[in-house]
Amino acid sequence: MRIRRCAILFFEPREEVAFALAELLSGRGGVTRTLRWYALAPHLPAPVEISASARDLLGSLSPSQWTEHSALAEDANLQALIGKGLVVQDTTAGQEGASTAVPAAAFDDARLRRVHWHPLAALLHAFTRWNGVDSVADARTAGIDTAAGLRERHGEPPSDRVLPDAAEVRDLPAALQTEFDALLHRRATCRNFDAARALPLSLFSTLLARTFGVQARVQRGGLVFDKKNSPSGGGLHPTSACLIVQNVEGIAPGLYRYLADSHQLVALPFDAAELPALALEAVSQQDWFANAHCLVVLVAAFERTFWKYRRHDKGYRVITLEAGHISQTLYLSATELGLGAFITGAINERPLERVFALDPLTEGALAICGFGWRGATMHAAELDPAGQVWTRAN
Ligand SMILES: Cc1cc2nc3c(=O)[nH]c(=O)nc-3n(C[C@H](O)[C@H](O)[C@H](O)COP(=O)(O)O)c2cc1C
Repeated sequence: MRIRRCAILFFEPREEVAFALAELLSGRGGVTRTLRWYALAPHLPAPVEISASARDLLGSLSPSQWTEHSALAEDANLQALIGKGLVVQDTTAGQEGASTAVPAAAFDDARLRRVHWHPLAALLHAFTRWNGVDSVADARTAGIDTAAGLRERHGEPPSDRVLPDAAEVRDLPAALQTEFDALLHRRATCRNFDAARALPLSLFSTLLARTFGVQARVQRGGLVFDKKNSPSGGGLHPTSACLIVQNVEGIAPGLYRYLADSHQLVALPFDAAELPALALEAVSQQDWFANAHCLVVLVAAFERTFWKYRRHDKGYRVITLEAGHISQTLYLSATELGLGAFITGAINERPLERVFALDPLTEGALAICGFGWRGATMHAAELDPAGQVWTRAN
């Protein structure tokens, strides 16, 4: 059997601090501190605790070259690491007629290698995905769910005013005011949707076309490039829209993928009765967003950008920056159509990966946007100091 170390692996020495009554009673401070080693490998679902000897053994194995290991069955240390997915067997072994079953982690490792992730980006993405997080309760528990609570717990925020010592400061002419400024001023993150009023199909369709649709297609050097309304690193537009449609005229509530080139929807199997619970879970219990007429999960096909920017220092950053551009296009498009819009980064990615059948090694949820009719009453706070949104008829 041929083995090698998994492709991407980092070690973390972690200190675990626990309260111990016996320590307190013996006058030694009341806490115990334990140092443990963890192996962090992005093809695995969670960090894995390992011994110092296992760490050293992993450090002695090549991640690229296969090594023939004839006495593998008798080597308990290696078997344990194979069981944990940190050492992988040749996934082609089955095709060669070998009898040993190859653990699933080996196939995940093989897929990870094909996507050309930068190792640090792969780790960051893999271990910052949420499952079952309630960001609202967490903020309340930490006492930072209000501005006053934030100030009390964290003090003043660091200044955003960059003023080098002895800098020469000069005035600029007043900014021009055009119709575009009026549109910008009407943009405000919407936290109050009128969930009962169905969204017309024409508005829904227009918003998707403006934000995600292909506007034109060009050929360059045998490759095809799409022109969209937001910029994209490498011109590859890796980000697409996975939709939780809740109240749009003519569209059955459910899950859909938007096809950017043909301006069509693909329905995905899902029990519509479960949509409100999924929406709430997706936005980590932020009920002010969960009832929007349409939630849009921004899903990046990492492998598309990494096809060009292989193991690139900036590849992942470019993709997340692009999500911000898309969000702003969505905000402004919605505002111009008289709709409210939002973005949230506080999302539970893992249930979304399950229902939209996303392989997190190649495709991942980055943020959730949403849009729909604004409500008539402000229940959740919005930032509209000049009354640009809330003095108008919604
Ligand atoms: C990347 C990103 C993530 C955000 N996440 C949240 C969020 O989790 N919850 C929320 O209520 N607002 C969220 N917001 C909205 C901001 O709170 C909002 O933009 C900010 O308060 C300024 O208000 P405005 O958008 O109305 O100008 C997010 C905004 C951005 C750009």
